[in-house]
Amino acid sequence: MTKILITGGAGFIGSNIAKFYLERGNEVIILDNLSRKGVEYNLEWLRNIGNFDFIKADVRDKKFMEELLRDNNDIDIIFHEAAQVAVTTSVQDPVLDFETNVVGTFNILESMRKHLKKAILVYASTNKVYGDLSYLNIIEKEKRYEFEDNRYKYGLGEDINLDFHSPYGCSKGSADQYVRDYHRIYGLKTIVFRQSCIYGTRQIGLEDQGWVAWFIIRLILNKPVSIYGTGKQVRDILFIDDLLEAYDLAIKNINITQGKIYNIGGGYENSLSLLELIDLLKELSHKDLDYDFSDWRPGDQKIFISDNTLIKGDLKWEPKINYRSGIEKIYHWILENKDFISSIVENNV
Ligand SMILES: NC(=O)c1ccc[n+]([C@@H]2O[C@H](COP(=O)([O-])OP(=O)(O)OC[C@H]3O[C@@H](n4cnc5c(N)ncnc54)[C@H](O)[C@@H]3O)[C@@H](O)[C@H]2O)c1
Repeated sequence: MTKILITGGAGFIGSNIAKFYLERGNEVIILDNLSRKGVEYNLEWLRNIGNFDFIKADVRDKKFMEELLRDNNDIDIIFHEAAQVAVTTSVQDPVLDFETNVVGTFNILESMRKHLKKAILVYASTNKVYGDLSYLNIIEKEKRYEFEDNRYKYGLGEDINLDFHSPYGCSKGSADQYVRDYHRIYGLKTIVFRQSCIYGTRQIGLEDQGWVAWFIIRLILNKPVSIYGTGKQVRDILFIDDLLEAYDLAIKNINITQGKIYNIGGGYENSLSLLELIDLLKELSHKDLDYDFSDWRPGDQKIFISDNTLIKGDLKWEPKINYRSGIEKIYHWILENKDFISSIVENNV
């Protein structure tokens, strides 16, 4: 039986990881400080799936993290998902952001170096490490931006310049570099995933993080959204189940993947702009989402599409869930769970 620790395991991605490994009969420990509103519902949901240990703790607590990994030196895999996840919050509270994302990750790396060198560490990084990409030439179409340069037809690869922008970009990017370097210098088996927008069930999107879920929640609650920028910004969206499959394949192929960094997203075929999402939601719900426009936010990319060539080559992985069916799934999940979701979201607005 494989023993797995998931930091941030009550959150959207973390709780889906927990489900995936519980269903396959593994031992799962979830560590979360429950700072994200409403994530205790994810723990309740998981209790119907299988038995796991839950530890309410904070990755910023160096002593606690070190003792935990020392006392559990039979852990095989750590998924490090705990983070301060929103750009806007990072601007308002850069100290919280730094301590959670940089120090929290560093605490795990150091504890692993001392007590758990054999385990695999999967780190959830972000495409925000590439900055606002304002140096790329962009064509503005009626509903979306496109890359002018045909070289980027299949998206942006891992060789794009790092350009940390916003405290969130800096903190996630620093952690991303530390995680890779602890492989080079100390031989830890680490893998970094620079994730595009991940969406799916158990995601309680908020205005500043999780835009696909946020737009659907607001539509279902008949509430307006603000669009920051023109609404033509494009993202390649990846359904959670596809991400989990990639994580699992990366672990199974650790001899190839250790020390590597992968961009991962839905790719060009699963890219859409905010305005295109609004049109799609109208088709699905026969309702109009009410919206207004505000200024761009720091570090906002006009277009990000992940070039998945490296991960496709290494793992024979590609997204299986097309954006239309993924959006339908999350739409129905939000509709079915409207009451508890609205109680969480209303307290945050
Ligand atoms: N969802 C996406 O589209 C996306 C894209 C790129 C990267 N990521 C990264 O993936 C990871 C998971 O994101 P998510 O969407 O599941 O977010 P989430 O907010 O749903 O999950 C994060 C969890 O971490 C917990 N947490 C926060 N601070 C903590 C701390 N100090 N100690 C312990 N737990 C703490 C929260 O309570 C929450 O349950 C994050 O690292 C995020 O930066 C997510």
